[in-house]
Amino acid sequence: MAGILHNNVWETDPELFELLKKEKKRQESGLELIASENFTSLSVLQCLSSCLHNKYSEGYPGQRYYGGNEFIDEVELLAQKRSLEAFNLDPEQWGCNVQPYSGSPGNFAVYTGLLEPHGRIMGLDLPDGGHLTHGFFTANKKISATSIFFESMPYKVDPVSGYIDYDALEKQARLFKPKVIIAGVSCYSRCLNYKRFREIADENNAYLFSDMAHVSGLVAAGIIPSPFEFSDVVSTTTHKTLRGPRAGVIFYRKGVRSVAKDGKKIMYDIESKINQAVFPGLQGGPHNHAIAAIATTMKQVKTPEFIAYQKQVAANAKRLCAGLQEHGYNISTQGTDVHMLLVDLRSTGITGSKAEKILEDISIACNKNTVPGDKSALNPSGIRLGTPALTTRGLIEKDFDKVVDFIHRGLQLSKEVSAISGPKLPDFKKVLSTDENIKAKVAALKEEVETFSRQFSIPGHETY
Ligand SMILES: Cc1ncc(COP(=O)(O)O)c(C=O)c1O
Repeated sequence: MAGILHNNVWETDPELFELLKKEKKRQESGLELIASENFTSLSVLQCLSSCLHNKYSEGYPGQRYYGGNEFIDEVELLAQKRSLEAFNLDPEQWGCNVQPYSGSPGNFAVYTGLLEPHGRIMGLDLPDGGHLTHGFFTANKKISATSIFFESMPYKVDPVSGYIDYDALEKQARLFKPKVIIAGVSCYSRCLNYKRFREIADENNAYLFSDMAHVSGLVAAGIIPSPFEFSDVVSTTTHKTLRGPRAGVIFYRKGVRSVAKDGKKIMYDIESKINQAVFPGLQGGPHNHAIAAIATTMKQVKTPEFIAYQKQVAANAKRLCAGLQEHGYNISTQGTDVHMLLVDLRSTGITGSKAEKILEDISIACNKNTVPGDKSALNPSGIRLGTPALTTRGLIEKDFDKVVDFIHRGLQLSKEVSAISGPKLPDFKKVLSTDENIKAKVAALKEEVETFSRQFSIPGHETY
């Protein structure tokens, strides 16, 4: 009588469960180098599949639209308290909202709270390493909703050095007069100069909004500079370096914003604006299972184990970078301070798309990426590599030497394929799928990669 309600998913839906198992196998046998991914803990997965998922709790602790929320309130308050503690924030000066469903809705809530429709923002351009939600648009289309509902003007990295061009930002901000300046990146391997961002924001009476989604784990562990000292608002996803559930958190300032010439204190008024933008402005019922998972993630953040993990993430990224440089690869900005790096393939004759494809075929996951100075965003010249996921699996520096070797051999093979196929990607893919000699070489390398990868375990459920 157990039926659909009480049986396990492997009994009620073997077809779907097969796919879950296949994905688990794929994760175990491949080398995951996508910089935004990680393998979360068993505790987080347990929260995500807990009874908290069942509860509606529109509103905030103590002010809900539904009954029965006494424990849900405690969970959310715990998640808030631990989120502040994770980044050593004083609750008199900072508050946080743990309800954003993920990073993108969280960022949209920040803009909705701080700006009128068509208010002006400046963020790092997407091809230069910014995120879609920082206002991306092209000559033909407003791609991100941020650029549909707000007016955005991008700032850039220097095309030669690869570093953010703060001087150009300063000049353009004087002309554009943004109300919000965004300090945040999806593909940039250097620490941000939050002080400089603050100065530029102050000159324009703008808010400084730091989106630390990629680096929040490193920030929490104290390995790289924190945005909090200089920012008015900080957002993060919780599933990247932080290694928690897929969700978002927004931190906002409280208390005194500035002191006027006559000594009068000007107070921050963004707490309720941001909270109201999240709910009821943009979202409905909070995902309480994810909020519980945030709470337990933020507890983990305070452990020596987590700090050691983040140090290893950064050490592995440096080793990966040095290893590739030894093989002659050009790394944008010539190095990394964080968990990721951008390989500039222009001098090798391999495009980012071809590199991504061949690495995928040998079970190494990464993504193609534009590099500074790229002419076409559709045909980027680089690949982005990150170490958080493999570091969770226990890889240390010497293991990354092996990873470097696999990547190098994959890219060499790609040159061989290119020599047969010519420059076009469809022809390149055709050779990969039809040329018997190439197929055998790819299969042999893939086997080596997978045998190496399977030595390292993944937290979570054993088979799914
Ligand atoms: C800097 C930054 N902000 C926001 C996001 C959006 O997060 P999500 O994919 O959870 O919406 C990302 C995701 O990659 C990101 O890199």
